[in-house]
Amino acid sequence: MKNVLTQKLKTLPAPMAGFISQAGDLADEMGLRAYLVGGFVRDLLLGSGHFDIDLVVEGDGIRFAQECGRRLSLKVVAHGHFGTATLHGLEGFKADIASARKEIYEKPAALPCVSKGGIKDDLFRRDFTINAMAIGINRHCYGEIFDFYGGRRDLESKTIRAMHPLSFIDDPTRILRAVRFEKRFSFRLESRTLLWIRQALARRMLFCVQKHRLRDELILIFKERRPVPVLKRLWGLCGYSFISPGLVYREGWNAAHTRMQKAACWFAAHAAHKRSLDTYVMLMCLFFEGLALRRLKETMLAFAFRKGESRRVLSYRKDAAVLERRLAKQDLRPSEAYRLLEPLAYEVVVLVYALSAKKRVKDRIRDYLVVHHGTRLHVRGEDLAFLGFRPGPHFKKILMAILYAKVDGKLEGKNEELALAKKMMVRLSRCAPVCR
Ligand code: CTP
Repeated sequence: MKNVLTQKLKTLPAPMAGFISQAGDLADEMGLRAYLVGGFVRDLLLGSGHFDIDLVVEGDGIRFAQECGRRLSLKVVAHGHFGTATLHGLEGFKADIASARKEIYEKPAALPCVSKGGIKDDLFRRDFTINAMAIGINRHCYGEIFDFYGGRRDLESKTIRAMHPLSFIDDPTRILRAVRFEKRFSFRLESRTLLWIRQALARRMLFCVQKHRLRDELILIFKERRPVPVLKRLWGLCGYSFISPGLVYREGWNAAHTRMQKAACWFAAHAAHKRSLDTYVMLMCLFFEGLALRRLKETMLAFAFRKGESRRVLSYRKDAAVLERRLAKQDLRPSEAYRLLEPLAYEVVVLVYALSAKKRVKDRIRDYLVVHHGTRLHVRGEDLAFLGFRPGPHFKKILMAILYAKVDGKLEGKNEELALAKKMMVRLSRCAPVCR
């Protein structure tokens, strides 16, 4: 096994493989033992990609991280309170380093009391056996696996097994993690683990956790490649009342998610403004769609979702139906569609595009995203000043009017744009002094 893992470590992308071997050398020099742990080890054994390195050091993890940062020119962000540090390098390289620790949960669902420990303690405090393995990186044990709790056996038998009966009482967010891993890897929850989950649910433990911790786990679910089966499993186990009463699972989500993904790919390839979409926010829009607006606002606040997330979810809830209705009208000019769509986030627009069954709505959104939203004017502010306009807020009004006329195909070239500007100048000067 040691040789197999040493080989696997060699096949990692060069910056990762280089970092791991240099970190191992440094640990030797500093007289420390260092290990790769957590999801990194699990995914290395599964042969799937995992891009964040997780290291545990028996000893002072922060001092080790600082020395790594100095030697390897990486930026170090230390979190003294937790005894952890993160190293950041080029092209998104990231490695988390922690001191090996023991955890004791004095109260259910609260953060644990932490004390120094060895690798065996550090692995025991973890959620599932498949996440509780380590690989040595010191020279004498480079590539050696430390599997005290049967993680490899469970990986092979595709089993999610908690470490002990109180795991979900100590940390109820693990219930969400259990179903996430179960569906991500197509594993099954081991029967006792499922029983412990049910016992924690019966004690309403999901109602006892700090909401921002649940939010982080929910976001991870929304970001999964196949999130809907996870949501379905969660619904079957405990419903969503721990998030908000009134939320329900909808059978249509799976098909909607597929259409949403397809639309997001299409957007990336064809939209005039190239930008990748936060598809997890699009799924959040769907997930929370059924809530009454007031309840939705309360939920966004209570879980402290990020401003950008809440803004788009609320906007979809408020605007999507009206938008679809308006875009379906027969005699809508392209500039009118532009005005309806322009204030909205791309995630909202693309979601309406993906889910609408109306051809006219789809065509209008497509024209907006591919053609009209890329419309550029020849006329600029300085041209208006040159014509004798006094700079002020009416500049925007005039430029927008030119843009809308252009979107409607009424203007060709700079001269026609200037002609419209002059016409507007005359019109506007009747109401206010806009000329010098
Ligand atoms: N962990 C835990 N209990 C939690 C969260 C994390 O025991 N509530 C441990 C697990 O050992 C996990 C490790 O911390 O493997 C790292 O956590 P995280 O990065 O959240 O999980 P990964 O296993 O890396 O999962 P993913 O592939 O989704 O990043």
